[in-house]
Amino acid sequence: MKIIMLGAPGAGKGTQAKKIAEKFGIPHISTGDIFRANIKEGTELGKKAKAFMDKGELVPDELTCDLVMDRISSDDCKNGFILDGFPRTIPQAEALSKALSAKGEKMDYAVDIEVNDEAIVERMGGRRACAVCGATFHLVNIPPKVEGHCDSCGGPLILRDDDKPETVRKRLEVYHDQTQPLIAYYEKEGILKQVDGMLPMEEVFNKIVQLTGE
Ligand code: AP5
Ligand code: MG
Repeated sequence: MKIIMLGAPGAGKGTQAKKIAEKFGIPHISTGDIFRANIKEGTELGKKAKAFMDKGELVPDELTCDLVMDRISSDDCKNGFILDGFPRTIPQAEALSKALSAKGEKMDYAVDIEVNDEAIVERMGGRRACAVCGATFHLVNIPPKVEGHCDSCGGPLILRDDDKPETVRKRLEVYHDQTQPLIAYYEKEGILKQVDGMLPMEEVFNKIVQLTGE
């Protein structure tokens, strides 16, 4: 099973991708998480990516595409994988199609999680991420059991640097401009599935599982 998660920043791609990866036993590949791990480790890639991420802009395709193509050619991706936050531009989608078709493969589904812009701004302001394991919570919708601490590992919960309101607005603008065209791209490819992301988390998950026919 090879799935792409599409959707605006804060639509719930990460939340759902994690659950789907567990259900199907396939790796969850989030380019945002890969960049954040590199920033934390102070790598060259991390330094370059941070400059764009802090402004709410996309990291250039040439830094992103090779990284993903390398990752999906690993052994653990043989039975499939779930891409969260990639592709995000038409050239990225074309690079992915090309790399897969060279192996006689293609993606099975592109799942677009639809959430309106007002709800996005509210979700991002309330999102807290664990500084240690990356698990995400929401102050109102998915509160941690102990305030300020991760349910899974007890680590401190922080507001992501790019979740500040002015950066969220810029990310939404970039999404509408550069990423939304992928909906038409995958519709044309015949693999687009749309899900109402305003529903509660569990319902969104059940709908995604249903549409994969499992
Ligand atoms: P990335 O980390 O991918 O961020 P994003 O797309 O902006 O998406 P988010 O992670 O913010 O949101 P999400 O959809 O995963 O939502 P979540 O599940 O957390 O990318 C960050 C940056 O890296 C980019 O801006 C860019 O600079 C760079 N980058 C990454 N990939 C790139 C690429 N391919 N090319 C170029 N640059 C790239 O949910 C959000 C909140 O809502 C949470 O608090 C959650 O608990 C809550 N929530 C989730 N579902 C529900 C629900 N159904 N009801 C109520 N609350 C919910
Ligand atoms: Mg995410």
